[in-house]
Amino acid sequence: MKARASAPGKAILFGEHAVVYGKPAIAVAVNRKAIVTIQESTEDDIKVKIPELEVYGLIDLVKGTISPKDENFSDVTPTYNTGILDYIQHALFSDEFNLDHGLDINVDLEIPIGAGLGSSAAITVATLAATFNYAQQELTLEKLAQMAHKVELKVQGSASPLDTTISTYGGFSYFTHKQGAIKLETNMEMPLVVGYTSKPGNTGKVVANVRKLSENHPTIINPILDTMETVTNQAREAILTGEEKKIGELMNINQGLLDSLGVNTLELSNLVYEARNAGAIGSKITGAGGGGSIIAYCPGRTQEVLEKLQSVENAFPITISSEGVTW
Ligand code: PMV
Repeated sequence: MKARASAPGKAILFGEHAVVYGKPAIAVAVNRKAIVTIQESTEDDIKVKIPELEVYGLIDLVKGTISPKDENFSDVTPTYNTGILDYIQHALFSDEFNLDHGLDINVDLEIPIGAGLGSSAAITVATLAATFNYAQQELTLEKLAQMAHKVELKVQGSASPLDTTISTYGGFSYFTHKQGAIKLETNMEMPLVVGYTSKPGNTGKVVANVRKLSENHPTIINPILDTMETVTNQAREAILTGEEKKIGELMNINQGLLDSLGVNTLELSNLVYEARNAGAIGSKITGAGGGGSIIAYCPGRTQEVLEKLQSVENAFPITISSEGVTW
């Protein structure tokens, strides 16, 4: 028995953090995926390999406990990267599945981790879909998105359903908590470049810091979150009517608002300004911040922005993936 599933990462264009407080967001699925393969094993445990991260782990079939290993499956000390195994463990041990034999799980990861690009959501969605496929159980996208969000909540403590929804459905969407992902019907080109710092962001920690700030200064932070909502809604109109300049301006305003939530860093700020100086008409943090990535909107200047950001840190162009999870 062998089963496979893949799910894309995502980039948020508008509304990160505000989305945790019930506000809308705009995000795209990107052309970089997590591909999960599950195979029956003759051993009693679940062996997980994520070669791109040099992460290996053993999950005890009975207790569900995970131990990080090296490539020879000898014990190692947990690292930032091995934290990704938690998502796989929680996905496999969802109530839906009844695992009664060993498995070999391989994850090919095309998405950098801790970069605000939804690697954990993509791994979670692909692991769940591959497990449903392996168990030959029926699955709907709605159920998958719900289960994946539950896994993120368990591992991170706090998470909006945005990442897991976009990874499940793919495409370019306006997300609301009531209606989920609503596809943005536009023929607009979206020339986007992601620049990522070598410092990974810790989403759970950054979200918790914003929560503290909002509790300490509710009369200041609540209006900022409301303004983020207005920015996202105006961006939706600008995307639907093809107003390039306005999209850029709104991204820059969004960046200022994110900075006021304390999620910016010197390195992110540097990339934001380098992108603008190289011709991006809008650039901002994407994802939680505190490290991780920026996204730059650069009609007619993709190459210049890409080269500039690559000379400072890491960067790559992104193409929107209309495809979500597949299995
Ligand atoms: O950093 P990422 O890719 O996990 O994105 C986080 C987005 C937040 O809005 C900050 C948190 C969330 O759960 O939506």
